[in-house]
Amino acid sequence: MILHKDLEKVLISREEIAAKVAELGQQISADYEGQEVVAICVLKGAIIFTADLLRHLTFDVTLDSISVSSYGHSTHSSGVVRFLKDLDESIEGRHVLLIEDIIDTGLTLKYLTENLYSRKPKSLKICTLLDKPSRRLVDIKPDYCGFTIPDSFVVGYGLDYGELYRNLPDVGILKPEVYRA
Ligand code: IMP
Ligand code: MG
Repeated sequence: MILHKDLEKVLISREEIAAKVAELGQQISADYEGQEVVAICVLKGAIIFTADLLRHLTFDVTLDSISVSSYGHSTHSSGVVRFLKDLDESIEGRHVLLIEDIIDTGLTLKYLTENLYSRKPKSLKICTLLDKPSRRLVDIKPDYCGFTIPDSFVVGYGLDYGELYRNLPDVGILKPEVYRA
């Protein structure tokens, strides 16, 4: 495997990701068996995770997406959440599975879940590929989590820095000189 020049190291390999996504898919499928669910992809970071996860779900699922921005081009949450794209369909009375790439401070997800709860879904659960609980500023916990990771800035498998690196197949730790530059 060739390491991208801006990565310090690979934290989670594509094989580990694939195995975990399949495992999450089985767990979620068991929980929602016989139900119909709206999967909401939180753009853009969760696109690749959502695409892979959906193919492991065995119940009836529809797909919607939402986009909020809390970061701009920095590695730290500003606490200011901006709404960029709303859902296409109503979620009132429906089972909702919100799919995120990573929970860091939790500010983005706190804002998002409060907004979605106000639309009266039948249920709302959070599935995240990555979780950095050591950085949490608000009380929010995922219902499904792929990997708990230490406090490093990671990219790849959908996660970006300044919109780059989403295409890398593994999740890797970005060299600090890249974001200090
Ligand atoms: P939070 O509001 O601090 O929880 O930030 C959540 C959002 O920040 C995620 O959806 C990501 O887009 C971004 N983010 C947080 N940590 C990282 C990271 O290590 N790499 C890439 N993006 C990150
Ligand atoms: Mg991002």
